Amino acid sequence: MPLDLEARKPLKLCVLKFGSSVLQKPDDYARAAHEIYRHTRGGEKVVAVVSALQGETDALFGVGHTVGQNCSDRLMARLVRCGEIKSAALMGLALQRSGIPSAVLDPHEMGLKADGEPLDANLTGLDADRVLSHFESADVIVAPGFFGEGVEGPVTLGRGGTDLTAVEFAHWLGADRVRLIKDVDGVYTDDPARNPEAVRLDQLDYDEAAKVSRGLVQEKAIFRARDNRVVIEVAALGRPFATRIGAVKRRAGPVPNTGRLRVAVLGHGAVGAGVCSHLLAHPGRFELAPVLVRDPDKHARAVGDTVLSFTDDPADALANTPDIVVETMGGTGFARSLSQSVLRDGSHLVSANKAVVALDIDRLQELARQQGRQLRYSAAVGGGVPILELIDLLAANDTVLSVEGVMNGTCNFIFGQLRAGARLADAIAEAQRLGFAEADPSTDVDGLDAADKLAIIVRHAFGVTLAPDRIPCESLNDLDHHRIRAVNEEGLVFKQVARCTVSPEGQVEARVDIEALDPAHPLAGLVNEGNGFLVRLPHRTIAVHGKGAGRWPTAEAVFADIMDIQRAYLAGNAETSPVPENPLSHIRRISTGSVA
Ligand code: NAP
Ligand code: HSE
Repeated sequence: MPLDLEARKPLKLCVLKFGSSVLQKPDDYARAAHEIYRHTRGGEKVVAVVSALQGETDALFGVGHTVGQNCSDRLMARLVRCGEIKSAALMGLALQRSGIPSAVLDPHEMGLKADGEPLDANLTGLDADRVLSHFESADVIVAPGFFGEGVEGPVTLGRGGTDLTAVEFAHWLGADRVRLIKDVDGVYTDDPARNPEAVRLDQLDYDEAAKVSRGLVQEKAIFRARDNRVVIEVAALGRPFATRIGAVKRRAGPVPNTGRLRVAVLGHGAVGAGVCSHLLAHPGRFELAPVLVRDPDKHARAVGDTVLSFTDDPADALANTPDIVVETMGGTGFARSLSQSVLRDGSHLVSANKAVVALDIDRLQELARQQGRQLRYSAAVGGGVPILELIDLLAANDTVLSVEGVMNGTCNFIFGQLRAGARLADAIAEAQRLGFAEADPSTDVDGLDAADKLAIIVRHAFGVTLAPDRIPCESLNDLDHHRIRAVNEEGLVFKQVARCTVSPEGQVEARVDIEALDPAHPLAGLVNEGNGFLVRLPHRTIAVHGKGAGRWPTAEAVFADIMDIQRAYLAGNAETSPVPENPLSHIRRISTGSVA
């Protein structure tokens, strides 16, 4: 591999392959997007290789034979690859909804070459440099599997060909691993549906995998992986275990615990409704208590015919001590006392409520520690942008000097609307309608929401507890017409920027300001509800960005916390998360977007 290519490779790169067994219907793209999100939030860049929706390739062959009758394999290959092209676009749409920065590429945009029989070809090359360059602005590249560009047009790779695409990508891009996501949690010695004695394997070698996997993994892909020393993982969506296929001795693995976790969701607004939708999309894993709201009838009418039920009685929602309580009500009155009591009663707490976390982080952490339970609040800062996870990673390996960012999606949205000529009141109303704004939007406009987030960041970056009301804030309302006109005339861009720094003596300073940024500034280009962060270390600055508010990005972060707790249970350890599957030993190349 040429040196310049090696330099471009993100520090941790994984290839995830989603086959038709996990892409059975359009709703499944949201589940797949979540699986991708959990890898990116752990610091990996992802190449997602997708198959067609289940049944689509057969249907295309069928219609091809009907229309064409004895038509050429070359034309048939051109037709049947359409299932994968459509699937890649659907995956891109699901990722975009969740605010995960991504790019969808077709084979001709990646220089993905193939050769051989039109319906049973092999891949022969990839323009790796071109593919990797997309990671400068995206965390995920989505690629259709199953076909490549032959000399005389597109050719397909045979049944199960998407496995081969994934293995070849891992090889050519120098990925750390390739994970084939199936509807079973690994390779078994026999079909577990037919033989209850079948044993799940933790690892096995290539030749044995080719024998026992019986089509679970395409044989051509296994042998190609063997030839190029690519380790294949076979896993189910969201599971803590995988089977590794490599140059390894066979080893049987544990059978994951089963059983559903009882989850109580408090609140069914912009965030809570998104979280419920994720929970309902995993029916075998969670048992949902009645959702706590103020007006149960309104919500029951709105959701219509689903299995969700609603209550306005906290005792109903929290009956029998749920395993996990998810707080998405907001406010610092009832939500604050309840957050403490549910931990005291022995539930794990997943909260989106930055105001409560900012006020009580030490108290809540202490309660969780005393009870052997987890306190999670990824969504409280950055919406779907995993900024707290990034800061934790960086702070564990280096000294964080400062964090600055646009961390209120509503203000960013409002500034965009004002630039486009909207009135302030209309811009605020639109942010409320879209589910970005707080229940009281003056919290956003006056900088108090950003101050809450900054207080949490200070705790993670510097280990210092700072009360949010000690953070000075400039309000968007403080802008006068003269300043707005002057900034517009100079071609600068208004942003609400929250910033915290630590001096060598350990003195922390934090403030929220309205700043006029040069358009070339790394935070100036954020649009709509975008959030962006610059984390400065002694020798470099890491930048991340994404959607910082709204139902789906926020629900992604909340649900990732829930799934982490669920994986800990499945792995037999309810108190802590399982050991990260891919712990990062270095962090140099995990930055997203521009590096200042
Ligand atoms: P929301 O749309 O106003 O929804 C709040 C929900 O909580 C509603 O269903 C409401 O019930 C229920 N609720 C509120 N107070 C209650 C009480 N005392 N008793 C019972 N139910 C109550 O709020 P949201 O935008 O989803 O935000 C929720 C939390 O997530 C807030 O802490 C917010 O800061 C945080 N957050 C929001 C976003 C975002 O983009 N929206 C992003 C990150 C974090 P009714 O509908 O019956 O009134
Ligand atoms: N109101 C908040 C915002 C929600 O606009 O950023 C996300 O925390």
